[in-house]
Amino acid sequence: MLKKTVLISFLTLISFSSMAQNNPIPVYLDESKPVEQRVQDAVSRMTLEEKVAMLHAQSKFSSPGVPRLGIPEFWTTDGPHGVRPEVMWDEWDQAGWTNDSIIAYPALTALSATWNKKMSWNYGKALGEEARYRKKDILLGPGVNIYRTPLNGRNFEYMGEDPYLTSKMVVPYIKGVQSNGVATSVKHFALNNQEMFRHTSNVIVDDRTLYEIYLPPFKAAVTEGDSWTIMGAYDMYKNQYASQNQYLLNDILKGEWNYKGVVVSDWGAVNNTEQAIHNGLDLEFGSWTNGLSAGTKNAYDNYYLAKPYLDLIKAGKVGTKELDDKVTRILHLAYKTTMNRNKPFGNIASEEHKAIAKEIGEEGIVLLKNQGNLLPIDINKTKKIAVIGENAIKIMTVGGGSSSLKVKYETLPLDGIKARFGKKADVQFARGYVGDIGGEYNGVKSGQNLKDDRSETELLNEAVSLAKKSDFVIFVGGLNKSDFQDSEGNDRKNLGLPYNQDQLINALAKANKNLAVVLVSGNAVAMPWVKDVPSILQAWYLGSESGNSIASILAGDANPSGKLPFTFPVKLEDNSAHQLGEYPGNKEELAAGKGKDQKNPINITYNEGIFVGYRWHDTKNIKPLFSFGHGLSYTTFEFGKASADKASLGTSDTITFKVSVKNTGKKGGAEVAQLYISDLQSSVPRPAKELKGFEKVYLNPGEQKEVSFTIDKSALSYFDAEKHQWVAEPGEFEALIGNSSDAIKTKVKFTLK
Ligand code: BGC
Repeated sequence: MLKKTVLISFLTLISFSSMAQNNPIPVYLDESKPVEQRVQDAVSRMTLEEKVAMLHAQSKFSSPGVPRLGIPEFWTTDGPHGVRPEVMWDEWDQAGWTNDSIIAYPALTALSATWNKKMSWNYGKALGEEARYRKKDILLGPGVNIYRTPLNGRNFEYMGEDPYLTSKMVVPYIKGVQSNGVATSVKHFALNNQEMFRHTSNVIVDDRTLYEIYLPPFKAAVTEGDSWTIMGAYDMYKNQYASQNQYLLNDILKGEWNYKGVVVSDWGAVNNTEQAIHNGLDLEFGSWTNGLSAGTKNAYDNYYLAKPYLDLIKAGKVGTKELDDKVTRILHLAYKTTMNRNKPFGNIASEEHKAIAKEIGEEGIVLLKNQGNLLPIDINKTKKIAVIGENAIKIMTVGGGSSSLKVKYETLPLDGIKARFGKKADVQFARGYVGDIGGEYNGVKSGQNLKDDRSETELLNEAVSLAKKSDFVIFVGGLNKSDFQDSEGNDRKNLGLPYNQDQLINALAKANKNLAVVLVSGNAVAMPWVKDVPSILQAWYLGSESGNSIASILAGDANPSGKLPFTFPVKLEDNSAHQLGEYPGNKEELAAGKGKDQKNPINITYNEGIFVGYRWHDTKNIKPLFSFGHGLSYTTFEFGKASADKASLGTSDTITFKVSVKNTGKKGGAEVAQLYISDLQSSVPRPAKELKGFEKVYLNPGEQKEVSFTIDKSALSYFDAEKHQWVAEPGEFEALIGNSSDAIKTKVKFTLK
């Protein structure tokens, strides 16, 4: 018997091994072979139809692989702050799954406000784990469009006004996400700096500004971060749509930066087959949709890179060189994501993720003002706390456009405050105003009923009388995610707070001197009451842990260390895009009705050039309400005298600046040492100073640490448009170190030889 079994096994072995010899594992599936070879092998096996099929969507968020060869399809998902819920195959409606609730992380403005690269890595890693668990291959984010105007409805999704800060903060996020075998899709490349006319405008910007201000974050994302995909934008540049743009995609991205990854279109951003074929696009999504809601049914065969492309090839009108290049790029992506057998499994809504979301929230909150050290709230002296304002009770993760989420939970500010202070103090709430009572986006319902029919006066009176009988008043207001606020698709209409909040805040300030205003927004707002309110916190959109992060800062459990990633102007006209540039577009064209459709696009000229944000305020001495880089702490810090390791550097040298930072207060905390460079003699106009280094340091009371910054000539350069290269002019420079763009503590001069 035994003999017989052995014989059968032996024969089976022989027949299997001869089968294996006849049918060796195909090269494209053979993990021992170099990826390049596997890609080439896969391409060589594919039919023309299979290749073209790979270049466009098959559903709202997926694109096909090669079913015959077992190459999996790609699943993309929004967005920058959490993994978007599942929609139906060919509809925007919710799929109704019950396993797609996630943790919402703080919006990218908040991440950027941490000025902490470690937080950015934690963020990316955790978010990537959730995307992986949800079986996603491409995460549609992060967004790095520069904050040009406070009216841009999507600023909350981006990382602020400074190309250096954004570049440094975006790289670890990308690496963190991609460590999960999930690609990022850094967006929106490029010049999509407002929502108004996003589909129907042409941006006119000079080369120097393009290279110095708007491109660096994208360049860092692909060259340092190695983002495996990049998403084109909706707007036009040089009268060509950005997602099919020769200059941006071929010349700059794939040419100058030698990008080997995949260019994904924004949803519905493609409208021309020839341009899509030739101008650098690889993967087309969302055609025949408006990106966010409406869409033509089953239009996939009509995509610009679908049948129309196939027809052109079959008619001999275009060759297959571009096709093979696109497919090759997509296959490389597959080996890093869908076909990567070593990728982790991910996890979702873990305690670790919650802790990460909370910590980033705490580190991102910016203490704008704290007169008389009113904050943190002294719980031993505070028996009655009034919480006032709609944003204390409003869910913010639902709404705002494609970054809208379906969360496992969202701790509201009022709940966070009650949980933290409620045991010792009596916490009472008054609405104060009614803003947006909506609570639904794309079929996801917040489940809140915020309807309130009381009049403005009734609401105000109730709030004021509560404020009067309380020991401490926390006003939680700001903007929200409804249309024309912090929301995709439209811009804000003005800089002011909506819903009569200014009047309410004024009244509260009169009613109780112990007033802290907590602003939940992703944008700067005007603060006509700024002198009358002792304490102000900028609290952003903080996601699932929102209320807990805010309460922890109010209580002083966490010491604020966030710094503004963009300038708060006193008034809109102080912002350079509004003073010098065009917004929302060229005035005459606007009057003539341009911008209404794609046949009549409107031009937007960035006349302000490189003078964006603090580069403008500081050069022209226009005092901001709160400056770029500003943010206070519950402790105090002292900067020592800066020193340089040499007096002058050559063009292939580096120079190192050192400065000591000491915690001179009684509480542990973190300070951000910021290095700005000023060119003291230049043949071209330059901003008064530009950020070229930052470091966050944690210090116990009395502790001192030395921070050092090493730079080379690239930190001294400007982009010479005529020569089309970066130029560092020999001469005198100054290193300015401080804790805000308008609070320089120490300087050191040096020369470039
Ligand atoms: C947005 C993108 C988003 C895409 C998919 C577009 O409308 O601009 O940021 O990733 O939709 O939802």
